[in-house]
Amino acid sequence: MTERIVVLDFGCQYNQLVARRVRECGVFSELLPLSASKERVLGNALSGIILTGGPDSTYEKGARTCPDWVFTLGVPVLGICYGMQYIAQINGGTVEPCAIREYGRKAAHFENHPLLEGMKEGGIVWMTHNDYVSRIPEGFNVIATTDCCPAAAFADDERKLYGVQFHCEVSHTENGNRIFKNFLKNICGLKCEWTPEGSADTLIEEIRAQVGDGRVVAGLSGGVDSSVAAVLVHKAIGDRLTCIFVDHGLLRQNEAQEVMEFYRDSLGLNIIAVDASERFLKKLEGVVDPERKRKIIGEEFIRVFEEQAKLIGDADYLLQGTIYPDVIESGSGGACVIKSHHNVGGLPEDVNFKGIIEPLKTLFKDEVRALGESLGIPANLVWRQPFPGPGLAIRVIGDITKEKLDILRQSDYILRREVKAAGLERALWQYFTVFTGIRSVGVMGDLRTYDYAIGVRAVTSTDAMSVEWAEIPFPVLRRISECIIAEVPHVNRVVYDITSKPPGTIEWE
Ligand code: XMP
Repeated sequence: MTERIVVLDFGCQYNQLVARRVRECGVFSELLPLSASKERVLGNALSGIILTGGPDSTYEKGARTCPDWVFTLGVPVLGICYGMQYIAQINGGTVEPCAIREYGRKAAHFENHPLLEGMKEGGIVWMTHNDYVSRIPEGFNVIATTDCCPAAAFADDERKLYGVQFHCEVSHTENGNRIFKNFLKNICGLKCEWTPEGSADTLIEEIRAQVGDGRVVAGLSGGVDSSVAAVLVHKAIGDRLTCIFVDHGLLRQNEAQEVMEFYRDSLGLNIIAVDASERFLKKLEGVVDPERKRKIIGEEFIRVFEEQAKLIGDADYLLQGTIYPDVIESGSGGACVIKSHHNVGGLPEDVNFKGIIEPLKTLFKDEVRALGESLGIPANLVWRQPFPGPGLAIRVIGDITKEKLDILRQSDYILRREVKAAGLERALWQYFTVFTGIRSVGVMGDLRTYDYAIGVRAVTSTDAMSVEWAEIPFPVLRRISECIIAEVPHVNRVVYDITSKPPGTIEWE
């Protein structure tokens, strides 16, 4: 990799978005904390630095700062919002509170400048700031303005320091990507040829270098991250990779069988299936509390995994499907991160491995998907909806029994069938049914019923951090309800969950 942008995180809610936008323009980018060392910032290559927005006021005590050496590395620096104000402040300009807080869409006037090439005069920019640069530092020129903002963008071409007060990373800024493209091409002079698909060869080479002639063991869940990671490692070291798929009895209809066939037949992976369903269900007997369910499943998963890993023997490395948001959210910026939330059981601590392999740890979910497709992984796996590690256990409210799991599985199968028939699969982030545990009175064929209510949950999202309940067309909802009641014994009522996140969560438990 010869082109790389570092995004320094001043605490803006859009920080990941900035890194993503740079990548969308074809340059690999990394979001780093302000505490990152000089070596870390320099990395193998450094072409430019972006300072993000943030919640502080530059003139207040305790406001975030970055080390002075950031500006001495010989690469252009672009500040966004707080980042711009910070550049102004440390170079002798003045930052003050706005008389009226500028928030929302604003029309901007753009000067003729390489950073603003292609920006339409009067185009909309997204503002959200309490402070503004009231006096620009010496050596800088104002290159954009809005009604309220005398310096909506500035530039010091000599020292290659730039700032935009508006958030060009959010989609509300018209043509905002153009600012990134201009910064990368016109200011940093980059070719912009990076793609996630194009990184496959490098990732495979890195895996080979790390593993040498060692062996790798992986826990596969059937999800996209662990699958793409396994396919990469398989391409790198072939059958020295052994995958373990644990069926904890909490999977969806036919899932264990389908996943196994798929991994073996379509992907050619060396995979061991472990049917541990009885064992898990026994441990979960009578357990109602959601957190206890999670803990029991996590713990049991570790035990099963450990046993299998020992049976395989002499594996040197453990493969994890960690992706970039996991790394960023941990705040540790690149250390080995295992969240029990993401990988049931997480890292088995007392199994000895020489090291962990995390080939996807610099990629976002959509990039993992693009990489997966380029590796030839079929679309139905690459575009699978996320499924939680604890599986259906956290979709059965209250204690778990085989009867309840069967009802849940059947209803979930019908929902998935109907969503597919309606062509809505790609439009939804997740869609599933919930065994609510509630029984209610109904009437079917002139007879009174007293049966279970099934909840239907369908959400849209880009990252699962915040979600909207999905506006599934009424005719589709009607059909889902009718099919579930007609086809699943002991269900006489279907309810649709119209709660977004926040305040709800995606899963009910
Ligand atoms: P919530 O319910 O917290 O879910 O809004 C956010 C996303 O995470 C998934 N999820 C889990 N995934 N282990 C996992 O691997 C878990 O314990 C777990 N809990 C929730 C959930 O399906 C959604 O995609």
